[in-house]
Amino acid sequence: MSLWNKHSILEKNSILLVIGILIVVSIGGLVEIAPLYYLKSTIEAVEGVRPYTPLELIGRNIYVREGCYTCHSQMIRPLRDEVERYGHYSLAAESMYDRPFQWGSKRTGPDLARVGGKYSDEWHREHLIDPRSVVPASIMPGYSWLVRTPVDARNIAVDMKVQAALGVPYSDEMIKNARADLLTQANPDAGDVDALQERYPKALARDFDGDPRAVTEADALIAYLQMLGAQVDFSLYDGKANLR
Ligand code: HEC
Repeated sequence: MSLWNKHSILEKNSILLVIGILIVVSIGGLVEIAPLYYLKSTIEAVEGVRPYTPLELIGRNIYVREGCYTCHSQMIRPLRDEVERYGHYSLAAESMYDRPFQWGSKRTGPDLARVGGKYSDEWHREHLIDPRSVVPASIMPGYSWLVRTPVDARNIAVDMKVQAALGVPYSDEMIKNARADLLTQANPDAGDVDALQERYPKALARDFDGDPRAVTEADALIAYLQMLGAQVDFSLYDGKANLR
């Protein structure tokens, strides 16, 4: 019996065939998947990408809580129409500290991956309170309570510890200073902005919602929106800064 004929044993016995298939598929799987566990990182580090500040992290939590991702994506695909409309396509590194990621799967509204710096803080404030006051044909719902609700920062240090356990490089110093950094970012006159920016390079520090009386959820959400996609200086990489 030649080797070729032995194959007929497999072809005539479905259980043996299934076992054979499983063996072949697992070899393929091992070859593709096992190396990923030995690579230090599958994401190329990119200069400028840093973990979220405590205020931005709270803003991001509010973004998730309010379900903004159900209408907005945060992932610019490398297609010409996307790049012309939204700016440089998204890099893997730009969402490396997003747990969970906010790529989204539906665009009822525009992609937000590079909305940072596109509008003023006042615009965001008005848009969040009543989208139709700035975009008359908008179908986005209003989130008027955000400007009235103080942020709940009780769990910020724990939140950062969880993120750190998941691989976000929050140092003990960052976690220790979480509340101070949060207050400084929303109220730069009252804190040490240099220390904040030392820990979080290029962090924007200002009164985002224009209300100095309290650090509100609008402060946090606008701080988050204003840094989205603004971390990487693309002119350093490919000289195509004019795409933005
Ligand atoms: C029901 C769908 C829907 C939800 C939910 C939603 N949006 Fe929107 N959003 C839109 C639409 C439609 C537009 C485009 C019209 C406009 O600018 O208002 C938009 C526009 C925007 C813009 C301006 C983008 C640009 O480049 O012009 C921002 C910023 C924004 N939304 C933020 C948010 C945030 C933050 C949340 C959650 C608090 C949210 N949206 C929830 C539908 C939605």
